[in-house]
Amino acid sequence: MGEVILSLKISVIGTGYLGATHAACMAELGFEVVGLDTNPKKIEQLAAGVLPFHEPGLPELLRKHTSSGRLRFTTSYAEVGSWADVHFIAVGTPQKAGDHAADMTYVDGATSTLASHITKDCLIVGKSTVPVGTARRLGALINEQIEGDAKVGLLWNPEFLREGYAVEDTLRPDRLVVGGDSTAAIDVLRQVYATAINAGTPFIATDLETAELVKSAANAFLATKISFINAFSEVTEQVGGDIRVLADAIGLDNRIGRRFLNAGVGFGGGCLPKDIRALQARISELGLDRTMRFLTEVDEINLRRRDRVVHLAHEILEDIQGRKIAILGVAFKPHSDDVRDSPALDVAAQLFNAGADVSVYDPEGMANARLRFPRLNYATSAIDALRDSALTILLTEWDEFKTLDPSEVGQMVESKSIIDGRNVLRADVWQDEGWRFESLGRKSVYPDGAPFRSVCS
Ligand SMILES: NC(=O)c1ccc[n+]([C@@H]2O[C@H](COP(=O)([O-])OP(=O)(O)OC[C@H]3O[C@@H](n4cnc5c(N)ncnc54)[C@H](O)[C@@H]3O)[C@@H](O)[C@H]2O)c1
Repeated sequence: MGEVILSLKISVIGTGYLGATHAACMAELGFEVVGLDTNPKKIEQLAAGVLPFHEPGLPELLRKHTSSGRLRFTTSYAEVGSWADVHFIAVGTPQKAGDHAADMTYVDGATSTLASHITKDCLIVGKSTVPVGTARRLGALINEQIEGDAKVGLLWNPEFLREGYAVEDTLRPDRLVVGGDSTAAIDVLRQVYATAINAGTPFIATDLETAELVKSAANAFLATKISFINAFSEVTEQVGGDIRVLADAIGLDNRIGRRFLNAGVGFGGGCLPKDIRALQARISELGLDRTMRFLTEVDEINLRRRDRVVHLAHEILEDIQGRKIAILGVAFKPHSDDVRDSPALDVAAQLFNAGADVSVYDPEGMANARLRFPRLNYATSAIDALRDSALTILLTEWDEFKTLDPSEVGQMVESKSIIDGRNVLRADVWQDEGWRFESLGRKSVYPDGAPFRSVCS
């Protein structure tokens, strides 16, 4: 992209998955960018061109722009407050301990500290996922903190990037949503996103509340779609149907669509679970208790899928005490090392706590999983995890697990039993090699000569 340095100076406050990606992509678009985080170790690594997490394509962008000098990192609010024209707030909004609501400590802290260091006219643009009403509340907070006569505008620009595709989603988003009260401020953001807008990306300018709600609504919808198909999994398990065929068949109706209808162990990660809980908590706070009550059910269906895998493991092994179980996958999804609220890690932990000898392997998520759950056995490869196991459970659909050869791995295990927690393996192929094959939402036994066929596979 252009070698010309564009005139707007950009800061990104919070350099985690979202902020580090946004900062590097803004540099790629031609802006001079400073990323700020309160974690000095993270800042040191990023400044040295080292990405502290896994995200395809991002290490290259980071190295490119830290080398060119267009992208710098700091822990100093004074530095960014006196320098940037546009400040993006990208700090975390995790679930509060012991509560469903979002913990706003980081957003509030970052915004007020930034405001107290601002010495020039600028825009503050929120990107974090926040409960509706946050932006207007922060507006008042900013006004309290500003010293001197700098004019500060506030916009909300929720982020829809997917981990694993974060660079592509940031450089070529499918839509841009910006909320604010000032058309002049919104026009500044049009300049920031000119490349995408010129390439045809829809730019939706709206009020602060709608912008905040768009993000909550998008995640609530996606979570509901996954739990919808997983609810039908519970039915097909009972009556003997096949959830993949059901999903293919309803997904061919283009009013429904096939995406996010993959039945399995359910959703996790740093966004969907905490976002649906935070939405519900906020809507209840507004006195609309019944309005989002269905999200409790969405959450419960999702968590029940994890229990179903644990139940199947008990059913297969009968007594799981001391039995070796190989868990393939700890990241909440492939192409990511994120283990926040990971269904795979949750299942591994439940089986460990029930007395099993759990051996896990994931191509990228091992370090993060070890930090959260150090007592599991961390294998050096899928084969290492599988060796002498009484049961294999696939929980994150990495390609290297999808392509395992049942005949080859069958020679290494103590017992040929597998649970496909993501519905990505061919039951007939595994069964032909003598495996007991269990999955979520599919019949465990297929009639002779009638291997599983999905209309779309
Ligand atoms: N990860 C995603 O895929 C994704 C996608 C869309 C939206 N979001 C939203 O983006 C926000 C950030 O998510 P994330 O996954 O990047 O979180 P993260 O935990 O990876 O990163 C948050 C960063 O903010 C830093 N931070 C905390 N307080 C700070 C402060 N006062 N000043 C400066 N830095 C501070 C932390 O040190 C950390 O590096 C959340 O609201 C999340 O819901 C995330």
